[in-house]
Amino acid sequence: MRKTPIPAARVVRLLFVGLLGACVGSRGASAADPAPGYLGPRSLAVSPDGRTLYVACEDARQVAWVGTADGKVIRRVDLPAEPTGLALSPDASRLAVTCAAPKSGVVVLDADTGQSLQVLPAGHTAMSPVFSSDGKRLYVCNRFDNDVSVFDLTTGDLVARIRADREPIVAAMTPDGRTLLVADHLPNTRTDRAFEGNVSPRVTFVDTQSLQTSTTALPHGANGIRGMSVSPDGQYALVTHLLSNFESVPFRVDTGWINVNVVSVIDLPQRTVIATIGLDEYYRGAGNPWDVLWSADGTMVYISVAGTHELAVIRAEDLLSDQARRTMQPMMVAWPIYPSLGASLWRRIALPGKGMRGLAAVGSKVYVAQYFSDSIAQVDLHPGGEARMNEIALGAAPVLTEVRRGHLLFEDATLCYQHWQSCASCHPDARVDGLNWDLLNDGPGNPKNTKSMLLSHATPPSMALGVRATAEIAVRAGFVHILFSEPPDEDSVAIDAYLKSLRPVPSPYLVDGGLSELAERGRELYDSDRIGCYRCHPAPLYTDLRAHNVGTRTPNDRLDRFDTPTLVEAWRTAPYLHDGRYTTIRQLLTEGRHGLRPNEKLNEDEIDALVEFVLSL
Ligand code: HEC
Ligand code: HEC
Repeated sequence: MRKTPIPAARVVRLLFVGLLGACVGSRGASAADPAPGYLGPRSLAVSPDGRTLYVACEDARQVAWVGTADGKVIRRVDLPAEPTGLALSPDASRLAVTCAAPKSGVVVLDADTGQSLQVLPAGHTAMSPVFSSDGKRLYVCNRFDNDVSVFDLTTGDLVARIRADREPIVAAMTPDGRTLLVADHLPNTRTDRAFEGNVSPRVTFVDTQSLQTSTTALPHGANGIRGMSVSPDGQYALVTHLLSNFESVPFRVDTGWINVNVVSVIDLPQRTVIATIGLDEYYRGAGNPWDVLWSADGTMVYISVAGTHELAVIRAEDLLSDQARRTMQPMMVAWPIYPSLGASLWRRIALPGKGMRGLAAVGSKVYVAQYFSDSIAQVDLHPGGEARMNEIALGAAPVLTEVRRGHLLFEDATLCYQHWQSCASCHPDARVDGLNWDLLNDGPGNPKNTKSMLLSHATPPSMALGVRATAEIAVRAGFVHILFSEPPDEDSVAIDAYLKSLRPVPSPYLVDGGLSELAERGRELYDSDRIGCYRCHPAPLYTDLRAHNVGTRTPNDRLDRFDTPTLVEAWRTAPYLHDGRYTTIRQLLTEGRHGLRPNEKLNEDEIDALVEFVLSL
């Protein structure tokens, strides 16, 4: 079914003159080098009659219209930046597409003709558009501005911006249209005293009339939130995520010892999590669940599993049953294990492609975006019958470059013993999970905050104590000691290539790509001999590649000196220091007096300026 592309409708490009400058050259969440020629299907929607599938292709910066009867691409519409999400209006007449950039544009397209109707200016890396039930408002998550934009579609005005906590990544609406749910991607807590509190991301409930909010926490250890779906009866919301046993020493991966892969059930009238149900089987993990979707009749639940390239299917009544809670609710207290080995209620269907992303469903058909295969899996789940599989190609079969293959392998849980996790389980989008792990490479009893992969290869040595001389060594050690497997070296070579290709996402603190006035003053302090941050964190890498004693040793640590981390993208790598004790740069400077000489005093303005500069890197 692979077809020559039909000439693209370039309408949108013309309408973008104003936004184009802001969007070009900036990358969304998965900031690897743009991949020429790749499509990268990421989000899906299907028309109510089931005839047309709308596919947001991240790498091609396009939305494709696909006829489901013959699997042919009917139309491609170019976008100004990588689309991160799309939604069909309640009357199916319009398509809202979030295009990620520091100043994101949300494009509203005519669902029939592909014509651009509206372009709305959103925040940094807009994602997960959601229409109000009357189709008059649109909500989008601004992932890196930590808030949600509310638009009035009749006037095109921004009505409000609503705070979330850390990286709001997915939103969903209750069927009565009264409550918008927004889930954060990561926890925003200090992690050095994890036993004292709940380390978990939040779900925010927004009253769509008053725009008042309340929040609830996902379970302790939750991270890497990706998908959310509300049941058609409005009683439950499901959230897909990992549950990380980060307080135990990760000396084994089986039995779900390090990460388990789960869906949390939120009771909507009560606004609390009532169950967290594992997708894993006792000997077979379901590494890295992504999207989740209820069938329109509310009887089935579908989950795409990015790391094992599967579709997990369960009957809603089974998911909500006592049996599911007895057999599939992981206990993460001291011994992370699924209490019963009872037969799994999930049906896990192997899909033909790689790297599952967004879902759409109509009738008995479920569609899954296969990111690395540039195709869509169409699974026909006739009740009682065999699942019938069809692969819809969106273009020519992709030939994977080393970088692309490395990206796939980094997120591939099938490389792990029993498929429990991938590198991306602790390094989502090749960054951080916000947790501490007591990896054994520097001995037990001294947990370290997870490091980002950005600039890792350019800033040897690796790890907070520099126990790995290079990132290349750390990558190979990661397979052996964390995934408990030994893939061929060519796989590690590809991962090296992918990690080296990562580029920083422009900081949300920049103003039109440059330092704000405040940050500019901060830079002067940073570079001054009086404050002198530059001595250990010199540009352009913002590290001198050396270890220093900066007074951060705790009773758990066996050394005084820690490797100086790069400060590039420090705005997204909280909590800070090797043990994750500070959630903000301000705390690091005020409570920690980090890098300051004993008698040095910074006034409030100076602290504001220095913080602003570090957050702008
Ligand atoms: C269980 C969570 C976890 C998993 C899974 C994991 N890592 Fe890590 N990784 C960490 C933590 C925590 C650190 C920081 C450790 C330290 O500072 O001592 C780290 C550090 C690294 C570093 C060094 C970064 C630097 O600049 O110092 C590299 C490279 C790395 N990991 C690669 C990988 C690869 C490749 C995989 C998959 C094979 C992987 N990791 C899987 C938790 C994990
Ligand atoms: C003497 C060398 C030195 C100086 C001077 C110094 N730093 Fe650091 N910096 C370090 C080291 C070493 C660490 C890691 C310490 C740890 O993890 O316990 C660090 C960590 C940090 C971190 C945390 C990064 C992360 O990802 O956890 C930030 C932010 C930071 N420094 C900013 C600054 C600023 C701002 C200044 C100037 C006020 C400064 N540093 C001065 C050596 C230095």
